[in-house]
This record gives sequence, structure tokens and C-alpha cells, in this order.
Amino acid sequence: MGNKIICGDVLKEMKKIPENSVHLIITSPPYNVGKNYDSHNDKMEYKEYLEWLNEVWKETKRVLVPGGRFCLNIAPTGIKDFVPIHHDFTSQLRKSGMKFRTEIIWYKQTMLKRTAWGSWRSPANPHIVPSWEYILVFTKGKDRLEGNKKDIDITSDEFKDFSDGFWKIKPERQRNGHPAPFPEELIYRLIKFYSYKGNTVLDMFSGTGTVAVVSQEIGRNSIGIDISKEYCETAKNRLKEKRYQKKLI
Ligand SMILES: C[S@@+](CC[C@H](N)C(=O)[O-])C[C@H]1O[C@@H](n2cnc3c(N)ncnc32)[C@H](O)[C@@H]1O
Repeated sequence: MGNKIICGDVLKEMKKIPENSVHLIITSPPYNVGKNYDSHNDKMEYKEYLEWLNEVWKETKRVLVPGGRFCLNIAPTGIKDFVPIHHDFTSQLRKSGMKFRTEIIWYKQTMLKRTAWGSWRSPANPHIVPSWEYILVFTKGKDRLEGNKKDIDITSDEFKDFSDGFWKIKPERQRNGHPAPFPEELIYRLIKFYSYKGNTVLDMFSGTGTVAVVSQEIGRNSIGIDISKEYCETAKNRLKEKRYQKKLI
């Protein structure tokens, strides 16, 4: 099947994917924080935003194979006005019947840039600045993903490292014109840990195609969907040029 990038609306395109056909879903939706995306209003009414994504979660569950994992990258937004999106998404997904299996802390090591202290050196109203994001992991139906032993490609050292759920990975510096791309290392770990060689991986908010690029490199099929023509073009070029290089952290 290979690595496909589809330029279109998430719901419209996901509806075309057959049910029980994807082994792993890794995605990061827009966070609704007013980021400057090419073709998306990133400042919707919160209720409307949650309702929209609830429809996406329904398709997510439908297309996953039983035992397949959904890895959702998200972080609470706002420091002064904290918005616990990660809790709201978790409730939605649990209500839909998905099983919440674990959470991985992606520690971004960005505290050096810190400026928002709230009430400096005073208990009056100090702020906590999250220097991490979550990868929330859900399964559909059953806990185990069936597969062939010969298609396992994670090494013992990788397995030991990745199963400690505190992942120190710096944010991506090579942005390819996108405001919030995944670091390749994050995707490498999720794909290696949660899928077999030859499996199909979906990212329905694929941006500049990091999931596709890593999938191509390590022998997975993939489907990437994004509404922005510009990001889809970048993703296709990255695939053509095989622009992936596993970096040392
Ligand atoms: C947080 S970014 C994902 C970035 C991606 N992980 C990467 O590595 O480049 C969210 C993406 O959702 C896309 N998007 C927003 N609304 C969409 C919609 N209705 N259908 C499909 N994609 C959409 C945006 O264009 C944006 O690229």
C-alpha cells in the first residue's frame, strides 16, 4: 500500500477508510490556541471544538483494528487560563468505549525560555508552566495487537528505554513551514513500540507528514490526511526525498 498523503477534510476523508483497517493511529489535532495554520480556524468556541473532535474520535474507533492503539498527542493549554483539553478528550474517548491504557509524558526541556511566572516569589497566584505534553494511549476492543513474530523490529535496548514513559525529546527545530510539527524521534518510538513491520499507521491531522516519513523509513504503510494544500505538498516532497534521519537525542 505504501505511504499516502490525502489533502482534504478530516471527517470527509476518514469516512472513506474501511472499518478495522488501521493498526495504529498517531495524531495531534489543532490545540485551538490561535496558531497560524494555513487552512484552519484555530480559535473555535470550545464547545464547538470539542463536538468537532468527538466526531473525529468516532471515526478513529471505527477504522482501528481490534487491539490497535490510538496515540493522541495533546497538552493542556493556557497558563493563566488553564484549559484541561487532555481531560476533556479522555472523557470523550472513554465514553465512546475506547480503553485508556496509559499516558506517556513527552518532556520537552523548554523551561529555559520561561517568562510567565504569575506572582513572582509569592503564593498569591504563582503559575505552573507545563514543559511537557502527553501522549494518551487508547485501545479498541481488546488489549493485544495480533501480528507475526517475524515482523517485530524493536531492539531490546529500545524496548527497555521506550517502556519508561518519561520521554525527553526536544521540540522539532526543522519546521518545514509548519507551526507545530512532531519531532521524528517521538514518532519513531511510538511506531516501533506499538506496531509490527508492514502495519498501517494513520495520522488524520498529518501536517508536514512526519508520521508518513518515519513510517516509510521503517517499513510501515501510512495514510496522512491534512486540509492544507501547502502542508500536503511539503509532506509529499519529504516522502519523495526520503528526508528522514534518525537523530541522537
Ligand atoms: C498540530 S498540527 C499537526 C502537525 C503534524 N503532527 C506534523 O508533524 O507536521 C494540526 C494539523 O491539522 C490540520 N487540520 C486542521 N483542520 C483540519 C481539518 N478539518 N481536516 C484535516 N486537517 C486539518 C492543520 O492544517 C494542521 O496541519
